[in-house]
Amino acid sequence: MKNDLSNIKKAIKYLNNNDCIAIPTETVYGLAGNAYSDKSTEKIFKLKKRPKKNPLIVHYYNLNLLKKDCFINKEFLKLYKKFCPGPISFILKLKKESLISKNVTNNKKTLAVRFPKHTLTRKLLNKLNYPLAAPSANITSRISPVKKQDVVDEFGKKVKFILDGGQSKIGLESTIINLIGKPQILRLGGLEKNELNKFLKINAKYIKKSKNIIMPGQGNLHYSPKIPIRLNVKNPRPHEAFVLIKKRKLSDKKYYYLSKNKNLREAAKNLYTVLREIKKNNFKGIAIEKIPNKGLGETINDRIIRASKF
Ligand code: TXA
Ligand code: MG
Repeated sequence: MKNDLSNIKKAIKYLNNNDCIAIPTETVYGLAGNAYSDKSTEKIFKLKKRPKKNPLIVHYYNLNLLKKDCFINKEFLKLYKKFCPGPISFILKLKKESLISKNVTNNKKTLAVRFPKHTLTRKLLNKLNYPLAAPSANITSRISPVKKQDVVDEFGKKVKFILDGGQSKIGLESTIINLIGKPQILRLGGLEKNELNKFLKINAKYIKKSKNIIMPGQGNLHYSPKIPIRLNVKNPRPHEAFVLIKKRKLSDKKYYYLSKNKNLREAAKNLYTVLREIKKNNFKGIAIEKIPNKGLGETINDRIIRASKF
């Protein structure tokens, strides 16, 4: 506890100084900076090598600051009460008088917002008088980090401070829902699509492509260990690591388990760690067993399909 408090104090010092730090969330670690500061947000894009046209998600403690930045509607309040803090991000209309840096939105009139659940990060947000812009703490197109060492592997000493909150409980990024007009899911994520739709009592569709709205991670390679990946594999090739979702009778050094009993939550939590480990062990290819396309399995499949476009 004492340690936590002194780390949060350190974090605040860096942030107030317009530096970026890494913060833990229940989904993945974020590379955070003051969302109201041009300087901080500029640094985030530079460190991540992120194209300026790809906007950032802004993280809030509660509705107090959010109300100054965005218009909120009934649908949002319903979802906020039910799922926040939690693994869901909302696209809302930005207010003209908002202090959000133009870097965050790429000068557009919408904002992605989220209320992360991790205790440390909530404590931190509660002590700040600005929200935190925080994309996943990885170099653009690579695998998102789910623990402190992953962030170190991505950035080395370039990120001056990491608030260590252990391993992310969910292990996949937040679900993104567009609440401007009819609700649409823009990114599958840690909150299951069915759970969201059951609650909303409408069928918010996952849309993969759109001309008029910004689409998360479209077109280019994402979540990639930069090794060829094959999906729905029954028999791996000799040079491939084999990623499995249920226990095999025999063991083999090249077997990597996401789960031993098809537990999809467990598999989601382990996915990015397993991909990083395989990369560290210098495999030249990855074969992945068929993952059931339901619940978080749908999000896992989305990520590995994008990662396989290498
Ligand atoms: O779980 C998460 O959401 C993590 C943690 C750190 O909170 N963050 C995260 O951020 O995944 P990032 O930047 O890696 O992914 C955010 C995605 C981007 O693909 C971006 O295109 C999309 O959100 N996005 C941001 N602003 C948007 C907007 N106004 N409209 C549509 N998509 C937007
Ligand atoms: Mg990302």
